[in-house]
Amino acid sequence: MKKIISLIIASLMLITLCCGFASCNKDDNVLVMATNAAFPPYEYVEGDKFVGIDVEIAQAIADKLGMELQIEDVEFGSIIGGVVEGKYDMGMAGMTVTEERKQSVNFSNTYATGIQVIIVKDGSSITSLDDIFEFNADGDPVALKDANIKVGVQQDTTGDIYSSSDISGWGFCDVEEDGTITTDRVVRYKTGADAVEALKTDKVNMVIIDNEPAKSFVAANDGIHILEGDNEYAVEDYAICIAKENTELLDKINKALDELKKDGTIDKIVSKYIKAN
Ligand code: ARG
Repeated sequence: MKKIISLIIASLMLITLCCGFASCNKDDNVLVMATNAAFPPYEYVEGDKFVGIDVEIAQAIADKLGMELQIEDVEFGSIIGGVVEGKYDMGMAGMTVTEERKQSVNFSNTYATGIQVIIVKDGSSITSLDDIFEFNADGDPVALKDANIKVGVQQDTTGDIYSSSDISGWGFCDVEEDGTITTDRVVRYKTGADAVEALKTDKVNMVIIDNEPAKSFVAANDGIHILEGDNEYAVEDYAICIAKENTELLDKINKALDELKKDGTIDKIVSKYIKAN
C-alpha cells in the first residue's frame, strides 16, 4: 500500500514538474495557434467560436497534418514571444512579415497580402495624404500639416511601427538623434476596434490599420470611411510565424500551404470572407 502511495506521489510530482515547462504540457498531436481574435475577417469571435480566414486555413493545415487545432486568443504583441518560448506552435494573426520579426521567428510562405490604410471620420479635414504631410520635390514627407494630430493604432502592429517612426519615415514622431521620441502623437490601443472607437469619439484624428479589417470596421460603424485613392501606406505579406528551431513544423506547414493553394482551398476560404466587388 505504502509503495503504491509513494508511487502516486512520485508520478504527481513528475507531472507537476513537467507541466512547469511550457513546452511540456503540450500534446504532440495538438497544433497550438496563437492569435488575436479581434481582426475581422482574418480572426474574430462569433458566438463562442473563433472564425475567419486564418482560423479556417489553420484548420485545413491541422487536418492535413492529422493534428487537432487549439486556438489561444492573446494580445497581438505577445504572439511572437510566446512562439519563441514554445508556448504556442505557431502564430497566425494576419501577421506581416518584417525584417525585425524575422530576427526572432521564421515565417512560412505567405498566404495573403495586406495593405495599410487610413480610416477617418466622415467630414474629416483629412481627405488624402496631402492633408497629413508636407512633401518635398521628391515626394518624401518632410513635415506634418498639423503638429497636434493624433493617430490611433493597434499596439505592436505594423501600423504602430510605421506611425512611431519619424516624419521622413512616414511616421508622426519627432525623434531625437539618440532615438528618443519627443512627441506622443501615436495612441496605442489593445485592438483595432478600440482604435476605431477612439476615432468615433474624436480621441484620435485617424487610424492606420490593415485594409480588410478596416473594411469590416467601416461596415460595422456609421460615420467613418477609408481614405480612397493613392493614399495607401504600405503593402505587406501575411505569413505564419514558427519558432526558429522548429524547422520540421515550418516545412510541414509550407507543404500544407502549397497544397491548399494549388487545390483552391485557400481561394475558397478567402472568397467566403472577402467578397470581390
Ligand atoms: N498586419 C499587421 C501586423 O502584422 C496587423 C496584424 C494584427 N493582427 C491581429 N490579429 N490583431 O502587424
